[in-house]
Parts: sequence; C-alpha cells; structure tokens
Amino acid sequence: MSLLTRNLDLFDPLDAEIGERGEMAGQLEVIAGHVKRCQDCGLHRTRTHAVPGEGDASSGLMIVGEGPGENEDLQGRPFVGKAGEMLDRILVAAEIERPSVFITNVVKCRACEMVEGRLQNRAPHMNEINACRPYLVRQVEVIQPRVILCLGAPAGRSVIDSGFNITEQRGQWFEGPYGSRIIATFHPAFILRRGGAGSGARDLKKMVWEDIQKVLAYLSG
Ligand code: URA
Repeated sequence: MSLLTRNLDLFDPLDAEIGERGEMAGQLEVIAGHVKRCQDCGLHRTRTHAVPGEGDASSGLMIVGEGPGENEDLQGRPFVGKAGEMLDRILVAAEIERPSVFITNVVKCRACEMVEGRLQNRAPHMNEINACRPYLVRQVEVIQPRVILCLGAPAGRSVIDSGFNITEQRGQWFEGPYGSRIIATFHPAFILRRGGAGSGARDLKKMVWEDIQKVLAYLSG
C-alpha cells in the first residue's frame, strides 16, 4: 500500500470539475489550473510559476521527482535544469521519449529559503508535501500509469512509505493504486552531486540503470 490512496468518500469541487472533462488530457489541465492558483501552503509566496507536470496523459510510466528547482520555477516545467539534463540522458539511453511519459513532482512549487540575500533550494517540509499530495493523487487517478518511478529518497518517502530508505529499498517493487507498481531509484541531482571519477557516481549510475531496466522489462511485459 502506498501513500497515494485517499478517502474516496471525500469529494471536493476539484473532483467535480475533473469529472466534467471527458478526456484525460483535459482532466490533467483542470488539475494543473488548480495547482497554478493553489495557496494551500507557504510555497506559493515565493514561486514564479507552479510546476504541475507535463507529458502524455495516457502514459504507462509516471516519473515523480522531489520538487521544482530554480529553473523549473522560472519556466513552469519539471526537470529542465541540470538534474533534468541528466534525466533526459537517462531517458535517451533507455530509448524512452520524454513526451511519452508523464513527469511531475511531489511538491509543485519550488521550496526555497533566503540565504545571504539569495533564494536557495531546500527540501520541502512535510506540511508542504501533505498539502500538495492531493494533486499528485489526482494525477495518478487520471493517468493510472502501470509504473510510478520515484526519483530520490524524498519522493520515495512521500509516495511509498514515510520510512522509505533509498539505499536499502531502491529497485524494489511496491504496490501502488489502480494496479500500478511503484519503484524508486536515485535522483539525478544526487548522481550529479557525487561528481566525477572515484566519487561513486559510476556505481550510482549503474544502480539507476538496473532500476530503469526493471521498469522497461515490466512495461514491455
Ligand atoms: N528536481 C526535481 O526533483 N524535480 C524537478 O522538477 C527538478 C529537479
């Protein structure tokens, strides 16, 4: 059981609006519209753009990162900075077309704080993740992907289990909603932070590649 379930007895205006839209892309647009207007946590105060996510509404694969960084905040699109470049390289190597998957994050607005007069990224707080989860839950409800791939420990802890341990549990399958399977691997930014030769980046890449192969094998099965 993942953290992406919700009490279906609850029905709020967002569900009604989603229900009025027939096609999946339209339903995702409704969710995106709400995300862009959302003020449910403090992150809206510092955002330039909210980043609801993008990609194919009928994709079998949904990729979930931690949250937008500076570039994503400026462009309103997920994974367009350095970590995005690394994700793109992984997708190219796996022969996955980026527009054919749906890419989003556990929080849709940049988490940042002022350090020496400059806004710096920070990890999202639990209250921010919880405030944003209904959007992710609904995106999963609309897309009903076969696989949800979490990038990094925070995504694993927000989607799979609050006690998720990336070192021990990456590459393992977990049960997701609507018959989906969830798997987590290291975040591209973590690989980048490890840097060059002798730093362990090569081992990390190997493990990420193994995890991606599992996803591909399952999706093609
Ligand atoms: N890191 C994330 O987790 N998500 C993005 O969109 C960009 C960087």
